[in-house]
Amino acid sequence: MAEHLEIIQGSKAERYAALLPQIRSVIEDEPDMIARMANVAAMLHETFHFWWTGFYRVIDLNGLKDSKNLKDSKDSQQLVLGPFQGPLACTRIRRGRGVCGTAWDKDETQVVPDVEQFPGHIACSSASKSEIVVPVHDCEGRVIAVLDIDSAELATFDETDKEWLEKITILL
Ligand code: SME
Repeated sequence: MAEHLEIIQGSKAERYAALLPQIRSVIEDEPDMIARMANVAAMLHETFHFWWTGFYRVIDLNGLKDSKNLKDSKDSQQLVLGPFQGPLACTRIRRGRGVCGTAWDKDETQVVPDVEQFPGHIACSSASKSEIVVPVHDCEGRVIAVLDIDSAELATFDETDKEWLEKITILL
C-alpha cells in the first residue's frame, strides 16, 4: 500500500486521473469497508481541500427501535454518518431527506450548485454552499452508502466531478 499521496498540479480531471490509481492501490488489499471509506475520504479531502468529505452508510434500524430517537420512525433504514474529514456533521438522515437522502432514494448522483436552492437541504454547516452526493453500491447493485462532498463556494461541482467520483465509488 502506498503511504504517500502524490498530488499533481493540473486541471481537475488531471488531478482525479492521478488520484484514482492511488486510491485503488490503497484500498485493494483492505477488505474492511470502513477503513476503505476512511482513506478515500482522506485522499479526496487532501487533494482538493473540500469543506467536508465523507460517507453516510445505509443502516438497518431493525433491533434499534427501542432507542429514544428511533422508536417513532416508520423507516426500516437510515443513513448514518461514516468516515469523514471536516467539521462535525449531522449523524442520521432519513430516506428522501436532504441531498444525501435524495441521492439514496433516487439512486442517482446529485450535483447541487447552490444548496439554498435545493428543497429540503440539510444544513449541517452554514459554510457549505455547494454539494455533490454520489451513491455507493454493493456488488448486487444495492445502495449501501453515499459519498457526500461539500464546498464553501458556490457551483464547485460539475460533470467532471460526477464522472470521476462515480469511478471512485465503484472501487469501493
Ligand atoms: N447537506 C447534506 C447533509 C450532510 S452534510 O452536508 C455533511 C444533505 O442535505 O443531505
